[in-house]
Amino acid sequence: MKKIPIIIDCDPGVDDSYALALANSYEGFEILAITAVEGNVPAAITRKNALCIREELGINCRVGFGAEKPLKKAYNQFAANTHGQSGVGSFVFDQPEMKPDEMPAWEIIYEEAVKHKGELLLFAVGPLTNIAICLEKHPDLPQLLKKFVIMGGGTFGNVSATNRTAEFNIWIDPHAARQVFEKMDVWMVGLNATHAAAVEMSDFDDMMAICGDNKKARFIRELSAFSKYNCVENGSDNNAIHDALAVASQMDETVVTFENLNVRVEDGDCENIGQTVIDREKEPNCHVAMAVDKAKFAEIMKNMCRYYAEK
Ligand code: RIB
Ligand code: CA
Repeated sequence: MKKIPIIIDCDPGVDDSYALALANSYEGFEILAITAVEGNVPAAITRKNALCIREELGINCRVGFGAEKPLKKAYNQFAANTHGQSGVGSFVFDQPEMKPDEMPAWEIIYEEAVKHKGELLLFAVGPLTNIAICLEKHPDLPQLLKKFVIMGGGTFGNVSATNRTAEFNIWIDPHAARQVFEKMDVWMVGLNATHAAAVEMSDFDDMMAICGDNKKARFIRELSAFSKYNCVENGSDNNAIHDALAVASQMDETVVTFENLNVRVEDGDCENIGQTVIDREKEPNCHVAMAVDKAKFAEIMKNMCRYYAEK
């Protein structure tokens, strides 16, 4: 099987960590780079986590540091409730040995897009700041990509400040998101899909059991233990493994069904800033995840655990 070259722009993040682990376990992908952006936790932490996850999972790829704050909006988010203070639940990484790439995230993305013209599958599972900066510096980026898939947006939101009309990734940097949606052919895996694909507590039990006490699987086991605990004890939605569903949607195209719809990003200074407004009356401009195969996704997550348990 010819591997598809991919880059994952992310804000690790518990579900970002699952997404990276899943992509790394899939024989059809070659991870060229992991790029970090501000988001779930401040950029200093997402950057460290990107470096550490690369080493923990043994991923042979570049790590690029990206934006530390949104294009215009102040960055004031700290999602410790969902991701823990470290951004990776209760897991504690050693200090990373490997250094990041000298180029910033947006230049790595562009350089690899040129090198792999027409073949690069770009995932963005955090705020879209790095992607917007790349577009500003390199307007021909869209023509170079095979496909561009995001975890973000949806038919509803999860940000209390907007009365839950906006989804976190879009809300953190709505100005970047608007530019990206207007300039790119976006495959949007939003909250309506990720919540429909939410795993059960018993799935977390299975994932932990499959990982066993294998050292290579310890990170996944710890993520699963934290995720289950956070759901049961704190009522969090860690069982909606948002970013991993975006990756899974490209591993097996029967997991997520997309509809071509018109999507506009609200970036005005208003109550619903960051909302992805879907209008069925207008010309479609986006591929929106609208249906999922929940059981298939859970099995994909368990197969990922089997991959690491057998390393
Ligand atoms: O709203 C969920 C998204 O925001 C996920 O990508 C999560 O990691 C956070 O970045
Ligand atoms: Ca994320």
